[in-house]
Amino acid sequence: MAIRKILNKRDETLHKVCKPVVKFDAKLHMLLDDMAETLVKAEGVGLAAPQVGVLRRLVIIDVYDGSGVKELINPEIIWRSDETQKVQEGCLSCPGEWGYTIRPKKVRFKAQDRNGNWYESEAEDLFAQAVCHELDHLDGILFLEKVVEFIDPEQMQE
Ligand code: NI
Repeated sequence: MAIRKILNKRDETLHKVCKPVVKFDAKLHMLLDDMAETLVKAEGVGLAAPQVGVLRRLVIIDVYDGSGVKELINPEIIWRSDETQKVQEGCLSCPGEWGYTIRPKKVRFKAQDRNGNWYESEAEDLFAQAVCHELDHLDGILFLEKVVEFIDPEQMQE
């Protein structure tokens, strides 16, 4: 496994629409493993392929609840709760920038696993927030476009 470089928001790659994953091969598995290592190292909750320069529709998420890294390939949100949550948000591609967003409290999504098998799952709270944030990356959308109120970075320091 290897740590991959996380692109900054200034990189045009992060503003493009990604193409579907079509090959579920060793190269894909290596990418997923590298992204997992990169995410842990960066202490992030989620990472989308375009953030490491790959314009394909896949994301990984780890909400640190003990269930491990979730892999969502060609993911689609199929249901959003009417109930919303106002949450603090940041992005590994936007260091030092924080803001509040309004996200659905729960979402239901479908995705493929690393072997190409489709599955459906429900996410809530931080996981739902991460699914929305990461899937936006696949369409070239950064969380900054969704911020309703920016947070002074000084306030985010421990
Ligand atoms: Ni992000």
